[in-house]
Amino acid sequence: MNASEFYRLNKFLLVFLLGWLVTSCNFRQGRKIGGNGVKVSTKDAHSYANTHEVKTTHLHLDLEVSFKHKNIYGVARHTLKNLSGTQKAIFDSKQLLIQKVTLGKEGKERETGFVIGPMDKDSLLGQPLIVDLEKSTTQVNIYYQTTEKSTALAWVDANQTESGQFPMMYTQGQAIHTRSWIPLQDSPSNRFTYSAKIHVKPEFLVLMSANNPTAKNTKGEYAFSMPQAIPSYLMALSVGDYAYHAYTDKVGVYAEKAVMEKASQEFIALPKMFEAAQKLFGPYQWGKYDLLIQHKSFPFGGMENPKLSFINPTIIAGDKSLVSVIAHELAHSWSGNLVTNESWEDFWLNEGITVYIEHRIMEELYGKETVQMLETLDYMELMHELKNIAQSNHPKDSRLHLSLKNRDPDEGMTSVAYVKGALFLKSLEKTLGRDKLDPFFIAYFRDFRFKPMTSEGFENYLKTTLLEPNKFTFNSNEWIYLEGLPKNCYIPHTNKLEAMKTLAAKTNRGEDIFAPVNKVKWVEVVPKNTRRRNQNPRFKKVTYQEKLDVRQYGTQEWQYYIRSLDPTLPVEVLNDIDQYMSFTKKANAEIKYEWFLVNIKRQNKTVYPALKEFLKATGRRKYILPLYEALCTNPSDKPWALSVFKEAKSGYHAIAQQSVAEIFSKKP
Ligand code: BES
Ligand code: ZN
Repeated sequence: MNASEFYRLNKFLLVFLLGWLVTSCNFRQGRKIGGNGVKVSTKDAHSYANTHEVKTTHLHLDLEVSFKHKNIYGVARHTLKNLSGTQKAIFDSKQLLIQKVTLGKEGKERETGFVIGPMDKDSLLGQPLIVDLEKSTTQVNIYYQTTEKSTALAWVDANQTESGQFPMMYTQGQAIHTRSWIPLQDSPSNRFTYSAKIHVKPEFLVLMSANNPTAKNTKGEYAFSMPQAIPSYLMALSVGDYAYHAYTDKVGVYAEKAVMEKASQEFIALPKMFEAAQKLFGPYQWGKYDLLIQHKSFPFGGMENPKLSFINPTIIAGDKSLVSVIAHELAHSWSGNLVTNESWEDFWLNEGITVYIEHRIMEELYGKETVQMLETLDYMELMHELKNIAQSNHPKDSRLHLSLKNRDPDEGMTSVAYVKGALFLKSLEKTLGRDKLDPFFIAYFRDFRFKPMTSEGFENYLKTTLLEPNKFTFNSNEWIYLEGLPKNCYIPHTNKLEAMKTLAAKTNRGEDIFAPVNKVKWVEVVPKNTRRRNQNPRFKKVTYQEKLDVRQYGTQEWQYYIRSLDPTLPVEVLNDIDQYMSFTKKANAEIKYEWFLVNIKRQNKTVYPALKEFLKATGRRKYILPLYEALCTNPSDKPWALSVFKEAKSGYHAIAQQSVAEIFSKKP
């Protein structure tokens, strides 16, 4: 750190501390929410922003990304619309250092007063940043820098990337992390357009949830525009040494050069998905749609950042068997990105509708049976989840509309939102027919595009435009506001997975389903030198060996097979299965994950070296959290798991690290 940087940092710290001191004396009035006396937004229990009084309509970022300091610094310029004549604008901020705040257009700025409220007691919401406005203010500029505690940011060292040459960084905003890299009104109820100028060293390409470059430039300066209004959680930035592959002039994929070949092959169906989605749900509203293959530490399967979905590299299975995740993120271009849950309590509106659309896209491309497998697997997970929720501290979490006050919005991220949400719509489809439901959705996305939506709003629209005109009765109220699954729930089924259940039942009974079996057949004996069929044919007995053709089954079938195995099977049987199937070594992440879970339950140490490799190779929360949890239920495995975590940790995103650490700190 040189002298001027040292000075700058200290100045930041000073302003930060002063802000804190002032506010801890000042914030005594008002309703105490979040333990710090500042009211949360009327629409959103997870934001302090007073968007009902004053709101950002456009955001311009001028930022420098420093890999040396692992921080981002610069200015966030908010264009505001003052709705009530208020003299205070409240922004969300978390783990940011605020240097100064000015009013007015660039070049004609003057400093204004601000205070930073104290952190809420669970450090969930962060700190309200309260800025003094003048009546005529239309522009607030916040000079800031991120810190090492900014939860939205992941910094990946060069040696952790595929190329090993250059570091990488990316952001993850959903649900309430954007405030840790940009001071803004961090509520999905508000939308704004944005533009940005991002400065990096020339070896990097910068990508955002905006109109993107397809190649590097020599200056390391990138300009972005996002003319469609988005909610704050969809702000996204990724910096790395990326290449681009265009499928068409509308869709393509970004990835590190080393994975581009595989990635572009794997997602070759993207143009077809893109067409199918529009045919079903109306025109795509965002210009281009690209994928960015993220670093392996990326904590989710995918994230629907507009124009540029971030995709976990575990989706590249080699056989295109996990592309439903792509259909899912693409589907969010309608449900979520176009019509957005107003608060995280209606997260099901984002995810449930998206799973429904995902499955419709998959059906267009791969047929009904493929979707039946996906939904059967989902249904199994939901059953498991409902059981857990019923026994938890929050038994009401099996409702679609949630109550998340004073709770982390991530707690709403269960299969209830995803699977129960989709089942609601599938049950509706069964009652009404697609000829009624499809036009309903096209109209829904047209009428509410670029707007927030609530459960109440959705139900009203459903009733007034679809149910009442057609004289249908449907228990939408029960689906949205009550626990568990209503009686009219559509229950998925497929013969393909039934066949796997039968196979698993054989394994459970002790049969070796993979071993060759001796079979007998009778074949006609045709005497030599005759071509004609014999009037009185003679047959002879032939014995031969038959083996189960395992290649006829795909990823979803094996997932179902593994899940149907008796959890008390002897370790020897598990090892025999592995001899034939090489689940431990060769399988894709989805199968490996299921396989490791079964083996951890039996403490089958033969798979532990591969399990360790797996835990080091991916940071996807959906895999690593249940695996660590399973390991921690075996007291003798816990120390081993901890040692693996210590090695793997640096390859996980901060939010994943925290979740895993919590698992270890739980009492057995
Ligand atoms: N938007 C979600 C990811 C998310 C949800 C991030 C809540 C942060 C908070 C994304 O669209 C998603 O649902 N991803 C899934 C994959 C999908 C196919 C079910 C995932 O990551 O597993
Ligand atoms: Zn989703």
